[in-house]
Amino acid sequence: MDIKVVDDLLSQVNIVNVIERYIPLTKAGSNYKALCPFHDEKTPSFSVSEKLQIFKCFGCDAKGNAVSFVRDYEKISFWEAVRKVADMAGYILPESNYDKQKKSKFDLIYQAYKLAKDYFAKNLNEYGDQAQKYLDERGITKEIREKFGFGYAMNSYGGLSNYLLKHDIKPEILPETGLFGSNERGIYDLFRDRLMIPIHSSSGKVVAFGGRKLDESQPGGKYINSPTTVIYTKGRELFGLNVTKYDISKRDHVLVSEGYLDMLRLYEQGFINTVASLGTALTSEQISLLGRYTQNVYIMYDGDEAGIRAALKGAAEVTRHGFQCRIVALPLGEDPDSYLLNNGKEALQKLIDNAMTLQEYFKEEKILGLSTNKKVNFLIDVARDIAGDIDRSLFLKGVSETFEVSYPAIISRSKNKIIFQDYNVTLDYLNSNKYPEERLLLKLMMEDKELVEKIGEDIDASWFFEAEYREIFEVLIEHNGKLNQVSSYQMVVSPEVWARMSEIMLMKTPQVEIEKIVRDVKLRKYRQDLAAMDKIIQAKGQQSELFEKYEELKKKVRELDPRGAQKLLY
Ligand code: CTP
Ligand code: MN
Repeated sequence: MDIKVVDDLLSQVNIVNVIERYIPLTKAGSNYKALCPFHDEKTPSFSVSEKLQIFKCFGCDAKGNAVSFVRDYEKISFWEAVRKVADMAGYILPESNYDKQKKSKFDLIYQAYKLAKDYFAKNLNEYGDQAQKYLDERGITKEIREKFGFGYAMNSYGGLSNYLLKHDIKPEILPETGLFGSNERGIYDLFRDRLMIPIHSSSGKVVAFGGRKLDESQPGGKYINSPTTVIYTKGRELFGLNVTKYDISKRDHVLVSEGYLDMLRLYEQGFINTVASLGTALTSEQISLLGRYTQNVYIMYDGDEAGIRAALKGAAEVTRHGFQCRIVALPLGEDPDSYLLNNGKEALQKLIDNAMTLQEYFKEEKILGLSTNKKVNFLIDVARDIAGDIDRSLFLKGVSETFEVSYPAIISRSKNKIIFQDYNVTLDYLNSNKYPEERLLLKLMMEDKELVEKIGEDIDASWFFEAEYREIFEVLIEHNGKLNQVSSYQMVVSPEVWARMSEIMLMKTPQVEIEKIVRDVKLRKYRQDLAAMDKIIQAKGQQSELFEKYEELKKKVRELDPRGAQKLLY
């Protein structure tokens, strides 16, 4: 049983009928509304779109399709939910023994990851001199290397696949592990000549790897990470938690950093109640996971713009869960690793002792350029989702004191509609949504499969400036024709990407011509390329080959935008 079956099932059921079995829905415009079943609220912010067959709560950010609603509402497994929904719709699922098959596939992939970890660890000892030297230079002790299961992927296209096959992993499992790429000649090892850092589930099973470059000249990104597989979804795990969960529980607070190396440095320096969220703002799932061990979260993200945005988003999410949150402000340009190396642990402890509440941090924050009004409204909106009355009013009292707005004024503002609009504007800032035209293009593509194909022939993912939009574009192109329901995409993307996708799906469809948007997207790209060439020409002087390309691009811009071309080119 695979995703296609679920996709077909989703095309046969109506999400409105499914959800109505659990909670009453009322029609509001083209959608349905209800009080959200996933958090405590007094005004309905739970919305169901019949057209898109998805639900989304604007309060707690719960979102999904008919199957995931049943899964989350009944707190059962995904496959149990599939069966329930099929029963409701009288839909006959293909095989009856799919449970057994599913389970054994999980186990086989777990087994492959365990073997891979052993293999990489063995390589680090036997052939990993360069990797060991790198770790020495970065001051990662032998003890840490062992405790966290470090390894080394050799510079070979077949080392890992041979090893796994030799250890009785079936060849048909290999492509599903996410550890291999494939081309005409077959599969090849994805991780080559990299330091391998295993990511474990909280119960201690290896579910993914991060592979770090050993020096800058190597091809590819700084990290290569395992893709989503049946055992791993980015945004659901926390790096280090399998080791540190007991100490998090004992100390009753957790320090959350962004990166592998930050987490390990904190750990090594005695801050052992720590995890890393791995390059994203904390997701709701990660916060729930932490909630098993503590409800006091210290966010310690990099001191740069991305870190500030992610810290604010993460802290808002932690607050929504009703947990206590503090933000540790690192100086600009520092991450926990560099801060500890430069200033030592006493200095970091001071920063932790002085960590700010979300309200305080947001008030001080100047880089994003938000007005005080917008900040206050954003926080009021966050407070709406705090389930406990006492927790909610404590948080709002904090807003009142920090921003010096009277408490009654805050309460009366919380009833105002403007809050919600301001919340969206602020969220755009936090997400750094600088490219509305990209979002628009994706929106139109989600509504029209033929358009996906047409646009896919015209432009590719590299035309997108925003990384998450690029990812959504790729997913749409990849699954077009395979998945019929937009709601099925929840099964093939990470929670963050799905969050953005459902945000986009629920946007009002704008009255615009697709040609015009594609034209805008092309023009941006051409102009960016021209500016880059300009820089080279200025630095190195005119080069004939470049000149030709430059003229060619200029011509393209002129064709697309005869009037605007002049002013932008000179
Ligand atoms: N990340 C990634 N791919 C990248 C850059 C970052 O997956 N090209 C993720 C990794 O999980 C990384 C985290 O984002 O740990 C934080 O990124 P960054 O601060 O750049 O990396 P560090 O962990 O600080 O790594 P290092 O100290 O080795 O530079
Ligand atoms: Mn970092």
